Amino acid sequence: MAGNTNLHKASAAKNDEFYTQLTDIEKELKHYKHHFEGKTVFCNCDDPEHSNFWQYFSLNFKELKLKKLIATHFDREKPSYKLVMWKDDRGVHSDIKTLRQNGDFRSEESIELLKEADIVVTNPPFSLFREYIAQLMEYDKKFLIIGNKNAINYLCPDIKYGKLWIGYNSPNEFKLPDGSTTKKVTGLTRWFTNLDIHKRHEDIPLWKKYYDDPSQYPKYDNYDAINVDKVADIPCDYDSAMGVPITFLDNYNSEQFEIIGITYSKDKNPDIEKIRTDDKKRHVGILNGKEKYPRVIIQKKEKPNKNENRT
Ligand SMILES: C[S@@+](CC[C@H](N)C(=O)[O-])C[C@H]1O[C@@H](n2cnc3c(N)ncnc32)[C@H](O)[C@@H]1O
Repeated sequence: MAGNTNLHKASAAKNDEFYTQLTDIEKELKHYKHHFEGKTVFCNCDDPEHSNFWQYFSLNFKELKLKKLIATHFDREKPSYKLVMWKDDRGVHSDIKTLRQNGDFRSEESIELLKEADIVVTNPPFSLFREYIAQLMEYDKKFLIIGNKNAINYLCPDIKYGKLWIGYNSPNEFKLPDGSTTKKVTGLTRWFTNLDIHKRHEDIPLWKKYYDDPSQYPKYDNYDAINVDKVADIPCDYDSAMGVPITFLDNYNSEQFEIIGITYSKDKNPDIEKIRTDDKKRHVGILNGKEKYPRVIIQKKEKPNKNENRT
């Protein structure tokens, strides 16, 4: 659990200086290349001198056919600067400019740049992630950002309503400010995005059958849903509510399943409220008095029968 402790400490101590490795950016971004043509990209938590996001986009500026790239550096105490790269008839140019403010993503100046941007791509400070993603949604921006997987708990309603989804990879190792040491955070991060990707249209293969042995799928004491312990065990023949591990969202396809909600007390959407049968311990599903891990409650969607309406 060393990785877990490290990430937790980083968050608690507001030590937000975990730098993303170029290989992790390349591994994820290869799935999104077609989104960038003619677009302005903003990396708003990125010292261009050190950020591999700047590195990736500046090196691939032509290949991605970008219109403009902007990175702002945050300085806790003093006015900071931005680096801009853009293309015109004479070629690709770049320029460094001082900012009046300190590059805080919430500053007026950064918000002006945000309004100009089409897509925001970065790894923002872990401690401010909730505020950070709320700002992106408020300004209706396209984004691809790294966050702690626990953010899924409060982002689940947004995932339910199709406002964002989870990317392909989980960056496992980040560089520390000294530039040479790294911290492992295995399995604890996710890419969050609202850019369309193939993965979210692919069905999860289902082969288990509920009716072969219903005792394998008991109902919770406090939710009107059956418990499924592993994504691989989701039955193909059960049409009502099922509680599945949160990792289900890594492969969620909204054409295959509907998300009812999450066993997270703050999820008060009417669909999940309807299947809550006890107001205590709303944050977990309980089986015979025993608390399970938090669960996403889902239901299979009816697929239109291809043979229907055929004459
Ligand atoms: C997790 S690090 C990632 C840095 C870089 N984006 C990367 O992926 O390598 C988050 C960065 O956000 C910066 N930061 C912290 N608070 C900020 C704020 N309020 N506005 C903008 N950047 C901030 C930190 O200085 C830090 O460099």
